[in-house]
Amino acid sequence: MSALSIVGYVIVSAEGMLADAANTMPPELKFKGDQEFFASALDRAAVIVHGRNSYEDQPNSPQRKRIILTRSVKAIASDPTNAKATLWNPAGATFEEASAHAGVQSGTAAIIGGPVVFGLFLDRYDTFWLSVAPHVHLPDGEPCFPGVPQQTPQALLTAHGLYATDVKILDAAHDVRVTAWRRR
Ligand SMILES: NC(=O)c1ccc[n+]([C@@H]2O[C@H](COP(=O)([O-])OP(=O)(O)OC[C@H]3O[C@@H](n4cnc5c(N)ncnc54)[C@H](OP(=O)(O)O)[C@@H]3O)[C@@H](O)[C@H]2O)c1
Repeated sequence: MSALSIVGYVIVSAEGMLADAANTMPPELKFKGDQEFFASALDRAAVIVHGRNSYEDQPNSPQRKRIILTRSVKAIASDPTNAKATLWNPAGATFEEASAHAGVQSGTAAIIGGPVVFGLFLDRYDTFWLSVAPHVHLPDGEPCFPGVPQQTPQALLTAHGLYATDVKILDAAHDVRVTAWRRR
């Protein structure tokens, strides 16, 4: 196992959706408090891990090491378009092998989506920061984990050995708060 701490971040609608029916993150899910919380967490991470459509597009993005999940490689490859990025297919290599290729042995690996990527790490999160915007409704949207909405994100995190601890209010006017789910 790696010495990396594995930490997830997502913001979801009342139904547990991270994007709309067109698989796009709508402006209604973007809150200044959550975006600042997310950006400062990524600034502290050793590496960020995501799928092709989940690039975070923040001012500091070019500085960050990243591991991008894709089936376009057999196992692991350098990204020809980004010297700081490793392309990783979990069917052909372990996460430890991908992080070694990225040159990261310690610190935090920030898992930032989308749903398949979040699902892949459900048994490995040390902490999962689940932000909820309870007044945003995306009933036909893209769920944050495989298995939502049949189960809530909270029920899935519980089923995978995590429990809710600290809560921070990120936007009081819209009742947006983030809960840290930690492994027992
Ligand atoms: N609300 C939030 O906090 C939040 C968080 C994350 C994302 N989002 C939003 O969610 C949407 C993106 O969702 P998405 O489903 O398209 O996610 P994504 O993160 O882009 O993941 C899909 C990509 O990951 C790769 N992938 C998927 N399964 C894989 C597997 N088993 N092995 C290897 N690679 C695999 C595929 O790349 P290849 O096609 O290259 O194989 C695929 O294109 C965007 O609108 C994004 O903004 C929102």
